[in-house]
Amino acid sequence: MKKLILLMTFSLVIFSCSNDTDDTHYSPTPPDPTPPTSPEVIPEFLPNLSDLNLFSENLNDLTPSDRAFIYNLNTTLFSDYSYKQRLLALPEGTTMEYIDDGLPNFPNNTVIAKTFYYLNNERDETEGKQLIETRILIKKNGVWELGNYKWNTQQTDAVLDNTTSTVPISYNNLDGNTVNVDYVIPSAQDCIDCHNTSNVIVPIGPKLRALNGNNQLETWISENYITNLSNASQVSILPDWKDAVNFSLEERARAYFDMNCAHCHSDGAFCADQSNLRLSYDTPLLDSYIVEDKPNIDFRMSMYYDGISMPLTGTTMMHPEGYDLISEYLNTL
Ligand code: HEC
Ligand code: HEC
Repeated sequence: MKKLILLMTFSLVIFSCSNDTDDTHYSPTPPDPTPPTSPEVIPEFLPNLSDLNLFSENLNDLTPSDRAFIYNLNTTLFSDYSYKQRLLALPEGTTMEYIDDGLPNFPNNTVIAKTFYYLNNERDETEGKQLIETRILIKKNGVWELGNYKWNTQQTDAVLDNTTSTVPISYNNLDGNTVNVDYVIPSAQDCIDCHNTSNVIVPIGPKLRALNGNNQLETWISENYITNLSNASQVSILPDWKDAVNFSLEERARAYFDMNCAHCHSDGAFCADQSNLRLSYDTPLLDSYIVEDKPNIDFRMSMYYDGISMPLTGTTMMHPEGYDLISEYLNTL
């Protein structure tokens, strides 16, 4: 029944989009001058990813539908070298509202999606990809809800399933080596551990300072995706941890901590009672406890050992490039 309603609303959308194409000559009567406003499509965690209308017809191309647009972060979370596509869908006629350099105010029924995949051959994208999961956040009546869609083996669709599982992956990396990963899809509890502040579920990535790069905010302003913000230069910039030309070692290390650690190491977050570390980019060094904790940070990032190494969840291997950056930075303190 739900599906039927959705299909109906979807076809309404298609119909209204194709009004000025040659579709019109199928209509025996002239269009009603005051058409009823199309019903708002309320996003739901429907059983299949294809039901959500986030992607256009060939789901596995990951081409955003006209409801959604791609966004990129200056610095991203390391997840065992997987690739990620990030999408935002705002309900028609709504915008995000600027508040400060952090998260904007998202309208109700916003959908944020993050799809994880590996390229079969990192040297040659045409050899295709292995899609694993599409993680979704939907804001309903002011409250964010989480759900996860696992891609089927045929790679044609993904199914809502909030349980953890392991997916064996094999790909060829940029050096031409075959890499095997036992990729772990997180459980619903894992999602909540990382995505909550004082027991409220929150998005992590799309803080404006993390989005302020490559003209992205300028585009959002001109496309009217965001209001209350007249100029991107009002927003600070979260450095790209890989960009040693434009940012200092300290800036890059703090940006890395921000995206890889701060969702647990912040006031009100998962391990706030168990660790003094406060690893958000905007926490002054003096309050961060980084200096006092140098040996522990170094130790916890220097190897992979489930339950001891950091980050505590979300990876199944250490991150040598991230560790090199952090240990180089810690040595300067
Ligand atoms: C180890 C911590 C961790 C776990 C576990 C985790 N996330 Fe996230 N998630 C992040 C971080 C950090 C970001 C932002 C960085 C990025 O996009 O690379 C993020 C981004 C997202 C986004 C894009 C919007 C946003 O908040 O930035 C969605 C949607 C999302 N996660 C959903 C989920 C769901 C659903 C689960 C569980 C199936 C989950 N996440 C598990 C840390 C985590
Ligand atoms: C999924 C949540 C999570 C993430 C992400 C995470 N941590 Fe932790 N961290 C914890 C928890 C819980 C503890 C307390 C239990 C323990 O000591 O193992 C902890 C403890 C620590 C400790 C030891 C306690 C202390 O204060 O000295 C260090 C050091 C640490 N984390 C560093 C990091 C660094 C660096 C990162 C990012 C690379 C990170 N953590 C990411 C959850 C997390």
